[in-house]
Amino acid sequence: MLIVAWPGAARLAATLADKLGADWSELALHRFPDGESLVRIDAPVRGRCVVFAASLNNPDEKTLPLLFAADAARELGASQVGLVAPYLAYMRQDRRFNPGEAVTSRSYARLLSSSFDFLVTVDPHLHRWHDLGELYPIRTQAVASAPAIAQWLRRRVKNALIVGPDAESEQWVAQVAQLADAPWAVMTKTRRGDRQVAVKLRGHKQWAGRTPVLLDDIVSTGETVLAAAAALKKAGLPAPVCVAVHALFEGDALWRMLEGGVTKVVTSDTVAHSTNAISLAPLLAKALRQCAISTGSVIDRNTVRDVPPSTHSRARL
Ligand code: R5P
Repeated sequence: MLIVAWPGAARLAATLADKLGADWSELALHRFPDGESLVRIDAPVRGRCVVFAASLNNPDEKTLPLLFAADAARELGASQVGLVAPYLAYMRQDRRFNPGEAVTSRSYARLLSSSFDFLVTVDPHLHRWHDLGELYPIRTQAVASAPAIAQWLRRRVKNALIVGPDAESEQWVAQVAQLADAPWAVMTKTRRGDRQVAVKLRGHKQWAGRTPVLLDDIVSTGETVLAAAAALKKAGLPAPVCVAVHALFEGDALWRMLEGGVTKVVTSDTVAHSTNAISLAPLLAKALRQCAISTGSVIDRNTVRDVPPSTHSRARL
């Protein structure tokens, strides 16, 4: 197996390679002045299972070069082409909310599935879709971050109350709460625009003495967390800690959350960010191993033996 890191995903690729006894290399990416891209895989791929490691935040910028790279791997003789995307984009547009809109979760799934044989990700935003298999015809593995988050909470937050900001957060809030042995609650959210969010919390009296932990899968503008923190304050609860799986953090979102009454913000490392404190790479490696085994791909460093030494030295093997 060869892991090919998207620029910036070297750490993830190196961890996966280390855990799986595979090789890794960084994808060379050049942007021409006219905006087109050139991609190059600096390692031998013939006969190997080639797995790209790329978190799909900023997807519009990344997807086309990634598809070019997958295509190159296949043309150059890769036996399988897979994708480890710790954050999977476009899952939230899971219905035609207004006439004429694209259901991009479906379109994006079709696009990725046309280039990759399998996909490994972490907590995809499943709301109206219940399973990745409803969207992706290729083999998929969705890693749950809940055990790692619960472990972090058990060590770092005493008397936690896990609070989800909306109905769909119940799936991971309930799981984390059970694993962390803490009570939980879910708010109701109404979103009227990208930055117009309102949330409501009911039944808070029994939670006196608890430290609220706002738990969400994605933080983007931070408006959901800010509205939820305000609702907790209104209910007389202490300022919350915020734990999120995917740290998208647009613009000054993090700063506004900390100014807006959140005492601490902690995220998993699915998207590289200064708040990353929960590592999911070992769980991703486990899931990748399962995917690779079930697609018949052999994980073996020895597959690199038939490669000329000059090529070796250019790749980070
Ligand atoms: C949506 O349902 C997600 O679970 C998050 O709550 C949402 O993406 C957060 O977005 P923002 O930070 O922009 O409010």
